[in-house]
Amino acid sequence: MPKPDDSAQAVPPHVPVLLAEVLEALAPLPDAHIVDGTFGAGGYSRALLEAGATVTAIDRDPSVRVFADALEQEFPSRFRFVAGSFAGLDQLASQPVDGVVLDIGVSSMQLDEAERGFSFMRDGPLDMRMAGEGETAADLVNTLDETDLADLLFAYGEERKSRRIAHSIVAARAAKPIATTAELARLIEKAIGRKPGDAHPATRSFQALRIAVNDEFGQLVEGLFGSERLLAAGGRLAVVTFHSLEDRIVKRFFDPGKGGPTQSRHLPQVTAEAPRWVGVAKAVKAGNAELSRNPRARSATLRSGRRTVETPRSVTRAGLGVPGIRGAA
Ligand SMILES: C[S@@+](CC[C@H](N)C(=O)[O-])C[C@H]1O[C@@H](n2cnc3c(N)ncnc32)[C@H](O)[C@@H]1O
Repeated sequence: MPKPDDSAQAVPPHVPVLLAEVLEALAPLPDAHIVDGTFGAGGYSRALLEAGATVTAIDRDPSVRVFADALEQEFPSRFRFVAGSFAGLDQLASQPVDGVVLDIGVSSMQLDEAERGFSFMRDGPLDMRMAGEGETAADLVNTLDETDLADLLFAYGEERKSRRIAHSIVAARAAKPIATTAELARLIEKAIGRKPGDAHPATRSFQALRIAVNDEFGQLVEGLFGSERLLAAGGRLAVVTFHSLEDRIVKRFFDPGKGGPTQSRHLPQVTAEAPRWVGVAKAVKAGNAELSRNPRARSATLRSGRRTVETPRSVTRAGLGVPGIRGAA
């Protein structure tokens, strides 16, 4: 479990991505109340506290507690940490707030700890659970039938060779359950080969399994609509995502007219609904200076918008482009 000490202060365990851009999007006034729904090592929370804001931070990974304790000591009257998932953020924070930030995905701490099982670069148990509860990646890999497994890898990882990988997994597990990250990574590499210069062949499959284990799309949808309920009129939402499937959901959430289901000319004309979000910014990507410091920022996309006074919508996946599969979360 990570411990903040002097060296950890000098080199943060997780380098916050697009930090300046997130602060600009949230534009926190000194007395603002901001919810950081993905606390991690607290990079965003710290910057918001230093800008004078009050912060309620949420994370479902119990191992971040040590970073939250340090901020609670430093900012006792303005910082509060709540263990839980951002899907329920409007129950965890008191209403209404001036800003919400979500930095979706895994932290460097999660990737770096072999025993968490998130990375094919480090051998460990095939786990991938952020909150340490529920089904593990090994459970999915060893129990889903071949078609469901292939569908999962295709839908959540955009893995075009999903059928070949699923076939190899099912053949291998008949002899012995697949228990470790290295075993699965080797098996995938053997099944689909590896081209020099390309990403590791297990990249997409590991992404897909992590999304399924942690119900990441379901959490994202709930978190977005929860933010819509929680934010005061004029309050700001900033969301950083790390792959195109998540970014599509965020983009369509902010602007349901764009890319959402088109209206049929055979149906009566529906009056356009008043927008819940204004000032929706174009996607922001990391600049060269940040990329040279932190290559992990390469796949990050920030989207943001300001809440209007309109009544929040009911939670729905319709029109958001959430990938769907049978047989798994
Ligand atoms: C990319 S890191 C955030 C890093 C953070 N912005 C920082 O500067 O240190 C993502 C964090 O969000 C947490 N997380 C992911 N999904 C979550 C969810 N549905 N609810 C609460 N926390 C979640 C993960 O456990 C992880 O600690």
